[in-house]
Amino acid sequence: MPALDTQTKVAVIGAGAMGAGIAQVAAQAGHHVFLHDQREGAAEAGRDGIAKVLQRRVDKGKMDQQDLDALLNRIQPVADLSEVAESGLVIEAIVENLDIKRGLLADLEALCREDAILATNTSSISVTSLGAGMKHPGRLVGMHFFNPAPLMALVEVVLGLATDKAVAETVYDTAANWGKKPVYATSTPGFIVNRVARPFYAESLRLVQEQAADPATLDALMREAGNFRMGAFELTDLIGHDVNYAVTNSVFNAYYQDTRFLPSLVQQELVSAGHLGRKSGQGFYSYQEGAERPEP
Ligand code: NAI
Repeated sequence: MPALDTQTKVAVIGAGAMGAGIAQVAAQAGHHVFLHDQREGAAEAGRDGIAKVLQRRVDKGKMDQQDLDALLNRIQPVADLSEVAESGLVIEAIVENLDIKRGLLADLEALCREDAILATNTSSISVTSLGAGMKHPGRLVGMHFFNPAPLMALVEVVLGLATDKAVAETVYDTAANWGKKPVYATSTPGFIVNRVARPFYAESLRLVQEQAADPATLDALMREAGNFRMGAFELTDLIGHDVNYAVTNSVFNAYYQDTRFLPSLVQQELVSAGHLGRKSGQGFYSYQEGAERPEP
C-alpha cells in the first residue's frame, strides 16, 4: 500500500495537547481532518489554539492569510464519534489508559470502513495489547508523535505482533510525506524514546527529592552546560505530569516493576494536586497570567 493521498480524510480523536498538534500536521499536509473529543468544546478549542499560533506566523509575514484560512477550513470539529466514519486514517490521542483506549478502538472498528487504518499515539501502552481486543488487529499501528507535534520531526511507527506490515509501511510513508522523520519500532515498553528518556526524568526527580538543587537550577544547568533543549522539569511541565506519570507507571509495570523505572513520589504529589504543568497553569513552574515562566 502506498502513502495515503491527500484525498484521504483523517480523523484525530482526543483534542488535547497532542491531538490538536497532530490535526494541524495532517491539515497542513492537505488532508481534511475530523477532530473529535468527548469533552464538549474541546475540539473547537483545539482548532482555536491552532488558529492562534498560526495567526502569529501570518502577522510576521511567514504565512499567507489565505493559506491559514484554507488550513483551518480543513479541520472540522465533530461532536459525535460516528461522524469520523468515512476516514481512511484514524489517529487516537486520548488518555493514556489501556481499557479506555481499547473501548475507543472497539467503537471505531464498529463504525469505520474496513480498509481504514487505526493508529494510536500512545507513548507507552503495548500496541499488541491494544490490538488484542480488536476484530482486525492487523490494521492497528502505533503512530507516535512528539510534543509539540507540528515542530518535532520524529514519529515512531510501532508494530504490534499482529500489525500488518503493509499498514505500517503506509503510515511510515504518510508520515514522511507530512514532513516527518519516521522510524520503525516494535511494541516494547516505552518504544524507543520514552524508554531512553525514563532515567533522565527519574534521576532529575531524585536530585530534587534529595535536595541536591532546585528544578530551575537543574533545568538551567542542563540547557546551558548540557546543551539540552529543555531540562527535565520544564519538559515534564510541557508534557503534562499526568501523562508523564502514567507513562512511567506503564513502563515500570511492563518491565515487571524493574526499579530502574520506579515512578516518583514527587511527581505523584503533583498529579494528586492537579498541578499538571502548562495545561493546568501550575507544575514545577507557575504559568498563571503575569507569572515568570520558563521560555525554553
Ligand atoms: P491531554 O490530556 O492533553 O488530552 C487528551 C484528550 O483526550 C482530552 O481532551 C480528553 O478530553 C480526551 N479524551 C479522553 N478520553 C476520550 C475518549 N474516550 N474519547 C474522546 N476523547 C477523549 O493528553 P495528551 O498529552 O494530548 O496525550 C494524549 C495521548 O498522546 C496519550 O496517549 C499520551 O500518552 C500520548 N502522548 C503524549 C505526549 C505528551 O507530551 N503529552 C507525547 C506523545 C504522546
